[in-house]
Amino acid sequence: MPETPENTQYSQNVLEHFSHPHNVGEIPDADGIGNVGNPVCGDVMRLYIKVKGGKIVDAKFKTFGCGAAIATSSMVTDLVKGKTIEEALSISNKAVAEALGGLPKIKMHCSVLAEEALRSAIEDYKKRQGNDSKS
Ligand code: FES
Repeated sequence: MPETPENTQYSQNVLEHFSHPHNVGEIPDADGIGNVGNPVCGDVMRLYIKVKGGKIVDAKFKTFGCGAAIATSSMVTDLVKGKTIEEALSISNKAVAEALGGLPKIKMHCSVLAEEALRSAIEDYKKRQGNDSKS
């Protein structure tokens, strides 16, 4: 069972994803883009997804935020690759935090930003699909 830091201590995995984040950048021809912000701290996350045959084949992010926000962006983009849209929708902020070996309690809200960014990108993808089928 992964050790969950109680107070302010980051797990080794969080530090690793913060220092060497995966999937940083943009997807110029993305099929969905999610934009979310945390009104309390002002941190902002943008998440891009590329979808083929109902599966997320690529995901990238740009996050202007704290270390936990960057680590959770890195992890959520890793987790969604290869997943169907339905599977991706079931990824919770807790699952992202657990995959990172836990987050300090005061940093759990940062993982919510990652979940919301993913949902926002999927909503955008669905909206574009709807518009495509009408045109
Ligand atoms: Fe703002 Fe972490 S402190 S997302």
